Amino acid sequence: MVCLGNICRSPLAHGILRAKTKELGWEIDSAGTSAFHAGEGPDPRSVAIARRYNVNIRDLESRQFDPIDFENFDLIYAMDQSNYDNILKLAPNDETKQKVKLILNEITPGENNEVPDPYYGGEHGFEIVYQMLNEATDKIVEKYG
Ligand code: 4NP
Repeated sequence: MVCLGNICRSPLAHGILRAKTKELGWEIDSAGTSAFHAGEGPDPRSVAIARRYNVNIRDLESRQFDPIDFENFDLIYAMDQSNYDNILKLAPNDETKQKVKLILNEITPGENNEVPDPYYGGEHGFEIVYQMLNEATDKIVEKYG
């Protein structure tokens, strides 16, 4: 799960999918295209909205996306078009590029909708992001679980 800062959207996606796949043994991780917040925990507003839905993400720590992730993971979900473009720039070949998807295309295939960046907005933005990611991760489990 990849966003810009790895403190708002992708830690939520990471935590929600982790909670839904406990019994499946999947390796879930998240990262930011930037290193702005590397080493920091998730934004308190993400922690709070996750907690409201009984998902604990307090253990997560921001890190920057690394090209080694292309080898370690089968699927790489970008939260928005800018994240998607930045990840693709690091991909070594076309086969690797196939692993990278816009997460909301799991709900609305081909529409290239984006998970809005909630960082500069209010609490409500985090609720909207949570609902989008909850729906998208349901689809992922349905598809691959
Ligand atoms: P995220 O949100 O990409 O969902 O983690 C952001 C977090 C930090 C910044 C931007 C977006 N920032 O500019 O510091």
